[in-house]
Amino acid sequence: MLTRIKDLATKLAPRLIEIRRHIHSHPELSGQEYQTSAFVSGVLSSSGLHVQEGVGKTGVIGELQGTGKDERLLAIRTDMDALPIVERTALEFASRSQGIMHACGHDVHTTVGLGTAMVLSQMAEELPGRVRFLFQAAEEIAQGASWMVNDGAMDEVSNILSLHVFPSIPAGSIGVRYGALTAAADDLEIIIIGESGHGARPHEAIDAIWIASQVITTLQQAISRTQNPLRPVVLSIGKIEGGRAPNVIADKVQLLGTVRSLHPETRANLPNWIEKIVANVCNSYGAKYQVNYRQGVPSVQNDYFLTQLLQSSAEEAWGSDRVQVLPEPSLGAEDFSVYLEKAPGSMFRLGVGFRDRVLNYPLHHPLFEVDESAIITGVVTMAYTVYKYWHQNC
Ligand code: NI
Repeated sequence: MLTRIKDLATKLAPRLIEIRRHIHSHPELSGQEYQTSAFVSGVLSSSGLHVQEGVGKTGVIGELQGTGKDERLLAIRTDMDALPIVERTALEFASRSQGIMHACGHDVHTTVGLGTAMVLSQMAEELPGRVRFLFQAAEEIAQGASWMVNDGAMDEVSNILSLHVFPSIPAGSIGVRYGALTAAADDLEIIIIGESGHGARPHEAIDAIWIASQVITTLQQAISRTQNPLRPVVLSIGKIEGGRAPNVIADKVQLLGTVRSLHPETRANLPNWIEKIVANVCNSYGAKYQVNYRQGVPSVQNDYFLTQLLQSSAEEAWGSDRVQVLPEPSLGAEDFSVYLEKAPGSMFRLGVGFRDRVLNYPLHHPLFEVDESAIITGVVTMAYTVYKYWHQNC
């Protein structure tokens, strides 16, 4: 079966590269994937899948009916949105939309999803159950997965698989990880309210800028002294705003940041922990405060069984030296975790680095490029894992 899948994928390779380049040239921002989703629907329909458009706003679902009676439904999830980045590569198929770039490889994800659907549609007699392909919008703003789930994309789904490109792994190899893959990412807003006054007479005012700097320093120090060092927490203040003039003491400062963590228990305690620190600092100096903590996406926790399935499928397909078991998670975020709240699943990292380049630019970089041979690696790995899902343990 592996040989058949590899043959089908190899035959499709020129078409898949064409698809990827088309999507790469026509990137669309989160929530505006109109052309991309129309294109995706077209390819899915012509491969004989049952297609539903407008799921999760600009998302698309394609469903492939196997020929058996297995009740289980396996979902494959990919994302379609691009980033507000000016592409600086010299590729002939570089972005034609000014200021928008597929710099996170979602063009490759979409192509791998389509390629897997094309391969599996030609061997539907080998599939005892259903495969549902989810092409979601708006991953970059961590919204698309929730939109899909709210529109019923996970109804009846037993398990879900996904992938993300990874430039530091060479094309032809993949990475899997057991347990945590990415972090929970929450939004933090802190407002500090003091009292304005003359810059020369600080004792008559309450200096919100100085208190804000105490809050930031205390939070960073407190992480190292009060959080379990084996359960990472990263708090980054990325925006700070306050004050009116050099000689006027500011009465209000707003801090905006992101809070990353891996353990659900740690995460649950963070809002209180932050509020307590802010309160202590502000109370000491007579300032008022507000802490707004908004939970974003949870951590991606890969299921053991499905990760093992991905690993063994990839090892059979490419040899064990091409499959890395990743030792560390990332504190980046991925809204794939929203699907995992509905069904167990696993996401793998698809190597897209050029073996002969010393420097492979990172994700979200204006010079980010992928070695397109990785598309076939992705399609074969995904299609064979789907096949094995039904044929290894029934
Ligand atoms: Ni991405």
